[in-house]
Amino acid sequence: MAAKLLFLVLCLWCPGMISSSGLVRIPLKKRQQNLFSTSAASNNGRAGKYVKAHQGHAALDDFPLKTSLDAQYFGEIGIGSPPQNFSVVFDTGSSNLWVPSSNCVFFSIPCFLHPRFNGSQSSTHSSNGKHCKIPYGSGFIWGYFSEDVVRVGKLRVKNQVFIEAVTEWSLTLALAQFDGILGLGFRETSAANALPVWYNMVQQGLVSQKIFSFWLNQGSDSDKGGEIVFGGIDPKHFKGNHTYVQVTQRGYWQIPLGDFLIGNQSTGICSGGCAAVVDSGTSFIAGPTAVLAEINKAIGAKGLVSMGCKQVVSEYRDWMWDLLISGLEPEKVCSSIGMCLHNHSLHGSEIIKEVVESESGGESKDGEDFCLACETAALWIHTRLLQNNTKERIFEYINKLCESLPNLMGQVAVDCDSIPTMPPVAFIIGNRSFELNPEQYITKVRQGGSAICVSGFVPLEVPPPQGPLWVLGEIFMEAYHTVFDFGNLRIGFADAAQH
Ligand SMILES: *[C@@H]1O[C@H](CO)[C@@H](O)[C@H](O)[C@H]1NC(C)=O
Ligand SMILES: *[C@@H]1O[C@H](CO)[C@@H](O)[C@H](O)[C@H]1NC(C)=O
Ligand SMILES: *[C@@H]1O[C@H](CO)[C@@H](O)[C@H](O)[C@H]1NC(C)=O
Ligand SMILES: *[C@@H]1O[C@H](CO)[C@@H](O)[C@H](O)[C@H]1NC(C)=O
Ligand SMILES: *[C@@H]1O[C@H](CO)[C@@H](O)[C@H](O)[C@H]1NC(C)=O
Ligand SMILES: *[C@@H]1O[C@H](CO)[C@@H](O)[C@H](O)[C@H]1NC(C)=O
Ligand SMILES: *[C@@H]1O[C@H](CO)[C@@H](O)[C@H](O)[C@H]1NC(C)=O
Repeated sequence: MAAKLLFLVLCLWCPGMISSSGLVRIPLKKRQQNLFSTSAASNNGRAGKYVKAHQGHAALDDFPLKTSLDAQYFGEIGIGSPPQNFSVVFDTGSSNLWVPSSNCVFFSIPCFLHPRFNGSQSSTHSSNGKHCKIPYGSGFIWGYFSEDVVRVGKLRVKNQVFIEAVTEWSLTLALAQFDGILGLGFRETSAANALPVWYNMVQQGLVSQKIFSFWLNQGSDSDKGGEIVFGGIDPKHFKGNHTYVQVTQRGYWQIPLGDFLIGNQSTGICSGGCAAVVDSGTSFIAGPTAVLAEINKAIGAKGLVSMGCKQVVSEYRDWMWDLLISGLEPEKVCSSIGMCLHNHSLHGSEIIKEVVESESGGESKDGEDFCLACETAALWIHTRLLQNNTKERIFEYINKLCESLPNLMGQVAVDCDSIPTMPPVAFIIGNRSFELNPEQYITKVRQGGSAICVSGFVPLEVPPPQGPLWVLGEIFMEAYHTVFDFGNLRIGFADAAQH
C-alpha cells in the first residue's frame, strides 16, 4: 500500500512530457459498425456497474468488471513465450486483463469463435488456480487466473496476472471483433486485486512517464483507427493545449463536470455538481435521463421505437429461422443462440406483457432487453411459420411488428436528413467548453442499402451522492485527444488532430 502511494505521488509534471521519444505505440483498429454493435450497450446494466464500484469493493470474486461491451476500437497484444496474439479493447473502465482459454468449455460458443490461450504452449506460463466470475450486461465470463509475460507493442510485461476465460455466456462477446479486454482502470476495481497491466509497466520501469494517451481517429472511412500511446503523448495527435482536471474518484477514471449545454443553453443538471467517468471501453456517452429527454427532444428522436427488436431480427434472422424450421421450440431458440441465459418458456402474451411493463415501469431487468426482443421475435416468426408463409413475407411482417414494440434500450433513432439542424452540445470541463456537433454525436449505421442514424447518448440513472454521473466514451474521445496522467492523477483533453 505504502509503495503504491509512493509511486503515485512521485512523478511531478516534467517538461519532457511532450517529447515523443520512448513512446510505445499500439495501433488501434476501428471495427465495422453494425446494428448490433451500436446497441450492445444496454444502459440498464451500466448504472449497476458504476454504483456498485462506488460502494466499495469487498467481494471481488464477483466484481462487476464491465456490464457493457460495445467498444469500437481495439489493438493487438501477445501473451506467453512465444507470444499468442489477441485483439483486445484497451478499456479505462475496467482493470483486469482477460482472454479466452484453450480450456474453454464445449458449450460456450464465444470461445470457439476466437483464438484461445493455451498455457502449455508457453514456457513462461504459470497457473494461479484462483477462479472468478465476471457478469456482463447480457451474460458473464467465468475463468481462472494465470500468470505470464504480456507483450504490449515492444514492451514485455513480466509476471502479469490475467484471467483465462473458460465460459463466456454472451452473444455480444461471441460476435465481438475483439477477443478480450485489457483494463486500464485502477487496481481498486481489479478482480482479486490483481495488479493491472499498466501498474506492472510502471513498476517494472518499462515506461518513462506515468502517462498513457488515446487518439481515436474519427474518420469513419479511414482504416487508420487510432493509437494508444504508453509512456507519453504524441504531439501529432492533438492541436492546442490540454485542459487538465484532477481525478476525483479512483477506481474509474472519474473527473468533475461543470455544466452540460444543449445549443448554448445550460441544462442546469450539474448545478449541484456532476461527475464523469472517462471510459474507452464504451462507444456511447451516457448521462442523466432528465437531460437525455431534453437531448432527444432537441434532435427530434423517435423515442419509443424499439431498436433492439429490429437489430435482433436483422442480424440473426437466418439463425433463428433455421432453428425454428428444424423444430426447436421458439422459447428455446434465444437461449441456444446465446441471447438469453435460460430458456424462459414464456408464452406469447406473457412475453409481451413483460415487455410493456418493464418499459412503463422504467425498470427493465438487467441485460434482458435483447433476450426479450429475441423471444418476442422468435414467437412471432414461429406463429407465422405455422401459417405456411414464405420467409420473405414473414420477415417483412416481423419488421413492422418490431416498430410497434416499445424501446427498451434507451437508445433512439433520428432522421439522418435533419442532422444539420441539430444543436451542438457542450461539456464544461476544467475551464473549457468541449463541444460536440451532431456529426460527432450521431452515429450512422448502414443497414442493407440505407442508413440508420442513432443518437450517441444513452440514459444513465445514478442517484446522489454518487450521481448525477456521466460516462464519456469513445464518441467523446474521438473529438478530444485524451491523456490519462496516472502520476499526477489527472486527465487532460485537447482537440484531436484529424488525419
Ligand atoms: C504475434 O504478433 C507479433 C507482433 O506483431 C508477430 O511478430 C507474430 O508473428 C504474431 N504471432 C502469431 C502467431 O501470429
Ligand atoms: C494445448 O497445447 C498442448 C501442447 O501443444 C496440446 O497438447 C493441447 O492439446 C492443447 N490444449 C488444448 C485444449 O488445445
Ligand atoms: C499553450 O500553453 C503555452 C504555455 O502555457 C502557451 O504559451 C501557449 O500559448 C498555449 N497555446 C495555445 C494554442 O493555447
Ligand atoms: C452559441 O453562441 C455562439 C457565440 O457565443 C454563437 O456564435 C452561436 O451561434 C450560438 N449557437 C446557438 C445554437 O445558439
Ligand atoms: C431448458 O428447458 C429444459 C426443458 O424444458 C430443461 O430440462 C432445461 O434444464 C432448461 N435449461 C435451462 C438452462 O434452464
Ligand atoms: C402447411 O403445410 C403443411 C405441409 O406442406 C401442411 O401439412 C399443413 O396443413 C399446412 N398448414 C396450413 C395452415 O396451411
Ligand atoms: C479557471 O479560471 C480561473 C480564473 O481564470 C482560475 O482561477 C482557475 O484556477 C481556473 N481553473 C482551472 C481548473 O483551470
